[in-house]
Amino acid sequence: MFIKPRAFLLLVLPALQAFSQPLQQDMDVFAQRRAEFIKQLAPQSVAIFACKPEYIRNGDVEYEYRQESNFYYLSGFEEPESILLLNPAAERYRYILFVRRRNFSSETWQGAKAGIEGAMGTFRADTALTFQDFQKLAQTFLPKSGTLHYSFGINLKIDEMIREMFLEGPQGESWSVKDPAPILAEMRLIKNDGDWEMGFQKAIDISARAHVEAMKAIKPGMYEYEIQAVFEYVYRKSGSPRNGYPCIIGSGSNSGILHYDRNTRQMRDGEVVLMDCGAEYGYYSADITRTVPVNGKFTQEQRAIYQIVLDAQNAAIRMVKPGIIKSALDSAMMDVIGAGLIGLGFIKEKNDAQVFTLHGFSHWIGLEVHDVGKTIVNGKPRPLLPGMVFTLEPGIYVRPDVFDKLKDRKYTDEEIEKLRAELEKYMHIGIRIEDDIVVTETGQRNLSEAAPRDIDAIESLMKNGR
Ligand code: GLY
Ligand code: MN
Ligand code: MN
Repeated sequence: MFIKPRAFLLLVLPALQAFSQPLQQDMDVFAQRRAEFIKQLAPQSVAIFACKPEYIRNGDVEYEYRQESNFYYLSGFEEPESILLLNPAAERYRYILFVRRRNFSSETWQGAKAGIEGAMGTFRADTALTFQDFQKLAQTFLPKSGTLHYSFGINLKIDEMIREMFLEGPQGESWSVKDPAPILAEMRLIKNDGDWEMGFQKAIDISARAHVEAMKAIKPGMYEYEIQAVFEYVYRKSGSPRNGYPCIIGSGSNSGILHYDRNTRQMRDGEVVLMDCGAEYGYYSADITRTVPVNGKFTQEQRAIYQIVLDAQNAAIRMVKPGIIKSALDSAMMDVIGAGLIGLGFIKEKNDAQVFTLHGFSHWIGLEVHDVGKTIVNGKPRPLLPGMVFTLEPGIYVRPDVFDKLKDRKYTDEEIEKLRAELEKYMHIGIRIEDDIVVTETGQRNLSEAAPRDIDAIESLMKNGR
């Protein structure tokens, strides 16, 4: 029987309708977020959010797609070629999604899309139109003037459309543009029930379990990428669609390269291996680092450095509660590290410890591994509040080259050479311990404590598998 292409499309598309359906309770969370966001806009405001573009990796292969975090945070909509429009003052169409048209030939290759029906049904848009119609039709839904909340720089093609529609020509006089990102950063900074329902803790649990399995697997002679494989196996097996960031598996001298992710070296007996690895789940990223001995038993020198880093981290964790400022945690960690390194003969004064610490000790986490949110507000450090989630990640890195930085701290060349020689036995020990901490009403909880940190616990796990 001959079927006209259009009729054929109608017959076949519903059969393909198995696009991955988000849970309806998740849709409640996105709706609450939109309501909360809208409350913070001035009257006569509209907000438009651009999707992330797709990027070609090579030939006709694209990089794995991930929706822009604010777009996802407000909608749960994960497809490219999409625009989210919020027009709170409208009578009827306050939430509009512009989405890809459903198309039999592309769905044959890539699976079903939400389409207009899915955008209005599953994703609860008041109406939906095709992405291609955005420029032609969006303005028919909007007032003639006001404040447009839009973040430039996410999608250059959509930026161009926005410029033409709102900024160029006579409309340029009628609209003022404001970046909505700061409002969303404040919302995203304080995690609430919605964030936990959407799986933030699960991202951390999956990652902690992967750290445990990695510790059990490590043996001298294995390659760093084999440990990466353990992490990624546990992530995928547990339902994490992708890593929060590339696995950092640094053994021996690589333990001193902060974001080393080539993971190609063979791990040797007597070295440490630093594993900074976190899964993504529900768009949330975990961020956990553990450093362990390749042969399962810390040497005396590794143990000494490790214990200083662990003591520093524990001192900071104990201090976390509402009202504390993050720089107080940094100072506490630096104090412990300074005293420890003086004790081992590395430095003369506590402040010199910075030569061996190399990076900041904390950042917010959430939808990004380095998440949004200000630490300084109105020129003042902001006190911690319940619901904030951040890492505590002190580290000490003993690399031959870092000793040179002691020159800036008034150590003579002779002193530096002497230190380098005396401390040779500590060389290539890079230790970082990183956990994900939530501020509670009364203190804090270590969300990643399922991955062991104590020396005895690590050695027992590596020896006995428990
Ligand atoms: N994994 C990157 C970091 O710890 O900040
Ligand atoms: Mn981190
Ligand atoms: Mn990390």
